[in-house]
Amino acid sequence: MGNVKISVLNDDRCFNDLFKHCHGLSLFVETEHAKVLFDVGQDDSYFHNAKTLGLNLDEAKCLVLSHGHYDHSDGLVYLKEGSKIICHPNCTIWRRAKKTGKYNGLPYSKEDFTSRFDVTFSKEPVKISEDIYFLGQIERKTDFECKEFPSTIEDGSDDIALDDTGIAIKTSRGLIVISGCGHSGICNTVEQARKVTGCKEVLAVLGGFHLKTINNQVEKTIEYFEKIKVKELYLGHCTSDEVCDYFKQKLNGSMKVEFLFAGLVIKF
Ligand SMILES: [Fe+2]
Ligand SMILES: [Fe+2]
Repeated sequence: MGNVKISVLNDDRCFNDLFKHCHGLSLFVETEHAKVLFDVGQDDSYFHNAKTLGLNLDEAKCLVLSHGHYDHSDGLVYLKEGSKIICHPNCTIWRRAKKTGKYNGLPYSKEDFTSRFDVTFSKEPVKISEDIYFLGQIERKTDFECKEFPSTIEDGSDDIALDDTGIAIKTSRGLIVISGCGHSGICNTVEQARKVTGCKEVLAVLGGFHLKTINNQVEKTIEYFEKIKVKELYLGHCTSDEVCDYFKQKLNGSMKVEFLFAGLVIKF
């Protein structure tokens, strides 16, 4: 497996003034076999930043939507009609943010979404190319993750975000696992990637981990990454500065730990 390039088209943090950014995530993944867009943030930042980085979004084989929350999907309004999209069927459910009381799901109804784009809904993993896998519905196995959820569904109960998933890229040095918001738990997501690909080595884990304060989940997550000997971590989006700094401090020396920024290009 050859080189992999991941361009951060949007993150809550920004590289410099050349790049736009907003709360949300969008990544452009390039391998020797395929190019894939992962999430689109909540505005046109990904579109703007792709141009600045000289990337052509039309070359993407598909868009993978990590889940249906607005900060990963509202940017769909800037995506070319007819684009191929892979996501979990629950992406289209109605949901509301607990914090603001506002609707925070997809910017389209299921009907409008499927008529505007070429959508494949799948709870099962999908092999996108020789080396890129959509992870499907993540098995929630750990006892320290999935304790809190930021949204509710129509009947007022917790939106447990069963649609929350990621992708894995197989490389000769191990897996690169990418998470959107981490509602399924970042450790569960990595385990799912190992199961789906059959590859146990993990080179890097990257994206939103949904870790906001230093607590038991953070400690257990660090223990897990040490146990499976991850080599590189790129913390972004819904991972707080406090938690990112704690990861850096605890893992300093044993693992490369970096922040994600809009405009950052990572080569593996
Ligand atoms: Fe998010
Ligand atoms: Fe989310």
